[in-house]
Amino acid sequence: MRSPEPCLPAPARLAVVALLLAALIGGAVGVDGYGRARRLHMKNKVLEMFYHAYDNYMTYAFPHDELKPLTKSFTDSLSELGNLNLEHLPQDYNGSALTLVESLSSLVVLGNITEFERGILWLSENLTFDVDARINLFECNIRLLGGLISAHLLAKDYSSQLKDEPYQDQLLHLAESLGNRFLPAFETPTGLPYAWINLKYGVMENETTETSTSGCGSLILEMGVLSRLTGDSRYEAAALRALRKLWSMRSSLNLVGTTLDVLTGKWIEYSSGIGAGVDSFYEYLIKAYILFGSDEYWDMFHSAYLAVQKYFRHGPWYHEADMRTGEATHWQLTSLQAFWPGLQTLLGDVAAANLSHREFYNVWQRFGVLPERYLLDYGVLHPTEKYYPLRPEFAESTFYLYQATKDPWYLEVGETIIGSLNYYTKVDGGFASVRDVSTMKLEDHQHSFFLSETCKYLFLLYDDSFLRNQNYIFTTEGHPLPVRSTWHAKFPATHVLSNWTFVKDENQPIRVSALSSQVCPETVFRKSIGSPWESACHVPDVYASHRCRTDDDCGTEAVTCKKRTCSMAGYCSLWLVIY
Ligand SMILES: *[C@@H]1O[C@H](CO)[C@@H](O)[C@H](O)[C@H]1NC(C)=O
Ligand SMILES: *[C@@H]1O[C@H](CO)[C@@H](O)[C@H](O)[C@H]1NC(C)=O
Ligand SMILES: *[C@@H]1O[C@H](CO)[C@@H](O)[C@H](O)[C@H]1NC(C)=O
Ligand SMILES: *[C@@H]1O[C@H](CO)[C@@H](O)[C@H](O)[C@H]1NC(C)=O
Ligand SMILES: *[C@@H]1O[C@H](CO)[C@@H](O)[C@H](O)[C@H]1NC(C)=O
Ligand SMILES: *[C@@H]1O[C@H](CO)[C@@H](O)[C@H](O)[C@H]1NC(C)=O
Repeated sequence: MRSPEPCLPAPARLAVVALLLAALIGGAVGVDGYGRARRLHMKNKVLEMFYHAYDNYMTYAFPHDELKPLTKSFTDSLSELGNLNLEHLPQDYNGSALTLVESLSSLVVLGNITEFERGILWLSENLTFDVDARINLFECNIRLLGGLISAHLLAKDYSSQLKDEPYQDQLLHLAESLGNRFLPAFETPTGLPYAWINLKYGVMENETTETSTSGCGSLILEMGVLSRLTGDSRYEAAALRALRKLWSMRSSLNLVGTTLDVLTGKWIEYSSGIGAGVDSFYEYLIKAYILFGSDEYWDMFHSAYLAVQKYFRHGPWYHEADMRTGEATHWQLTSLQAFWPGLQTLLGDVAAANLSHREFYNVWQRFGVLPERYLLDYGVLHPTEKYYPLRPEFAESTFYLYQATKDPWYLEVGETIIGSLNYYTKVDGGFASVRDVSTMKLEDHQHSFFLSETCKYLFLLYDDSFLRNQNYIFTTEGHPLPVRSTWHAKFPATHVLSNWTFVKDENQPIRVSALSSQVCPETVFRKSIGSPWESACHVPDVYASHRCRTDDDCGTEAVTCKKRTCSMAGYCSLWLVIY
């Protein structure tokens, strides 16, 4: 799985949204010293990778869930996702075309509307969720529900390019049918959903009551959008209630744990970090704020982010800590943590993102790919988690950082990733996961996220034309959701300055984004350049302890361009906060 103190006064929050919206539209062909021919060459390499993975899936596995590239066969893996002990596997389940659903939004990003439409037609006629299969709510939400609603929104937006009969909301109907099957999972005394549900029969008797923070705290994007699209508020209400409950369980340090019990609402595992079991919880708080505009998400995110930076960060690395005491527990780098620099970039914390990203890149270069878990305190691989299942997180962060900085160095990082994937993991029948990064022995599995995320982010690195006409937020599975002012419930449309990114500057013929030009939004409005900017809540590393001594150590705050102050506890903040 991918997976708490206040910071900004209200007016500044509006500016942060404008910044975030703009962040996603960088100029496409900026003068960045990376030649056109080289860019085209890399883009074609990614296209080749995607189609090699996709065509092999369609030939040997479709309509089953995922491809086994070594044996050119299939696995109906939806029921196995997150199911480490492979318990309660279905007897009569032939797959849900998972990899096809996951590929739809990528096909649009890659510009293949014909194949996108073919996929939609097949799914509308043949896909059903009335199957006797016990599935993981989180996985099913991010992969299937997210894949379907994203493809639905894209089908609407690209309807003029569809050839056959007009698109009739078939994918939305499928998504609704799936969403309805999720609802029984939320019928608990706490509102926290069960991690597992049978798509046909609901929650099983004696079902485990243990779930993870990301499992019940990162459902709001997909279920929220489903509610906005159908007008049925039950999905969003269920996800929001669970999120509020989860947030109410945070410690006095504003930290959450990793696993919990849905019936009692008590923590099981108190140690947590930014990786497995928690990651997308943080990601969805900020992305929900961008998508739905509610201050509630910002307040949660901001407190959570500050606590992460305060208790988990050690220079460029993030370790785990006990939510009750803030004491470090595990000093481990995990492959999933590599999404964090991307999230920080979205937030505007580019310097910190750059620093961590470079460390992940060092590890990538050392092993050829990113190992699942690496023990920082011993400098060795974790004995049992030496695999690399074609995960996207490092490519994702590289994409965000390139969008923000237009530094061609990130395109070279992309070349390294693409080179490694082709060298180590490409086989005749697709792309295979690495079982052990010390031997590069392969495993017979091509995960669907390789198509929905890894290939998509790599492609966007060299061709971001998809992002030019619309602002998108990518779900934790890489499915784009358009940022629309009409979804900003408590947010008057006038506050979403939809066209300020079009402000042109003589030196920049391409659209200016605050993130790519690294100036404060206010500065953009004034059309003057100059103020250096950082994030809303960046804690700079003036001293090794990551603390400040005087206000001068804290610099200027990105969003408001105001000077920050050093709090009594020695952390930088925009207003007076007593920690
Ligand atoms: C799954 O496939 C098998 C073999 O083709 C078939 O007998 C069975 O009816 C299918 N089950 C479902 C639920 O479609
Ligand atoms: C779209 O995908 C299909 C299936 O891989 C392929 O045959 C076709 O050439 C692709 N079209 C474009 C424009 O890339
Ligand atoms: C639905 O599946 C059947 C069997 O695979 C296939 O013949 C049919 O063409 C599919 N429908 C569409 C619209 O592709
Ligand atoms: C549920 O647990 C109870 C008590 O352990 C047991 O008697 C019962 O058989 C279990 N039911 C199922 C369906 O496993
Ligand atoms: C990222 O870090 C490198 C090495 O410290 C530095 O040269 C580069 O300017 C940094 N880029 C940004 C955007 O901070
Ligand atoms: C949008 O752009 C137009 C044309 O430049 C301008 O007249 C209008 O005031 C802008 N709207 C906003 C909200 O900035």
